[in-house]
Amino acid sequence: MKTIKVFAPATVANVGPGFDVLGLALDGIGDELEVTLNDSKEITIHPIAGFEDLPVDPKKNVVGVAIQALLDDLDATHGFDIKISKRVMPGSGLGSSASSSAAAAFAANELLGQPFSKKQLVKFAMEGERCASGKAHADNVTPAILGGFTIVRSYTPLDVVNVPFPDELFVVVVHPQIEVKTSDSKRILKKDVSLETAIGQWGNVAGLIAGLASSDYDLIGRSLEDYIVEPIRSVLIPGYDGAKSLALEHGALGCSISGSGPSIFALTKGKEVAEKIGERFKEYYSKLEIDHKVYVSAINAEGAKVI
Ligand code: HSE
Repeated sequence: MKTIKVFAPATVANVGPGFDVLGLALDGIGDELEVTLNDSKEITIHPIAGFEDLPVDPKKNVVGVAIQALLDDLDATHGFDIKISKRVMPGSGLGSSASSSAAAAFAANELLGQPFSKKQLVKFAMEGERCASGKAHADNVTPAILGGFTIVRSYTPLDVVNVPFPDELFVVVVHPQIEVKTSDSKRILKKDVSLETAIGQWGNVAGLIAGLASSDYDLIGRSLEDYIVEPIRSVLIPGYDGAKSLALEHGALGCSISGSGPSIFALTKGKEVAEKIGERFKEYYSKLEIDHKVYVSAINAEGAKVI
């Protein structure tokens, strides 16, 4: 029997124009798992403190599903005993299911002697996402495993890459405490976009990546516009327009919806600006009498790790 503890970070997905393809990892917030490899040949998940509604059946819990996907690929049977410390609130838009799925695939891989590279673990963690939201999107699990700022260049075949990012890039997130299910906020999206809209959107995706790679903060800011998803989803988020205006007035490079919401993120140059915006977010949501949490974070370059 061998036991390890692992951490995988919360993430911001889509990052403006990059629906289902762009993501970044946050520092300091994420799920932790204590995983023991044993001889039972079964995956056992203990009840999750504070989240008693989450299933412990390994076929229904993202952690069990991600580990089973890895075992199936190896054509192997092993027993795992898993204790989950859930820190990323489900339905927050901060990659809650991805954090657990990524940590699970990472932990199993460590305990089995690293048969897979970190990049190869993404496809197993994606099965956790399929279980949670009905769609195996990879934009949260990729940064949760690899860390940094990531692109899902292709789903078929899966091709994920890290993008360089400037040192002073900070993220401020406000999470108004209402739950938005990814499956619901995916359902309301339109299935088609016009060529004109698509041209605007891929211009922004390309501009954002160029801005990150060349540390051009103004270009990052100009490119953080989403013409396709934000206009539809923002109506589900109380106070969205006001929060975005506040962030931009106080120096954000750009501001958009984190994942499928309701969290809202802004990118800034430097921690000070991020903290100032965080304070404005707190005042704003307090006035609206909506419970909220604010996070200020650098980009976590490490991703999933043993702790
Ligand atoms: N790309 C996904 C979505 C992320 O926006 O639906 C969910 O966190």
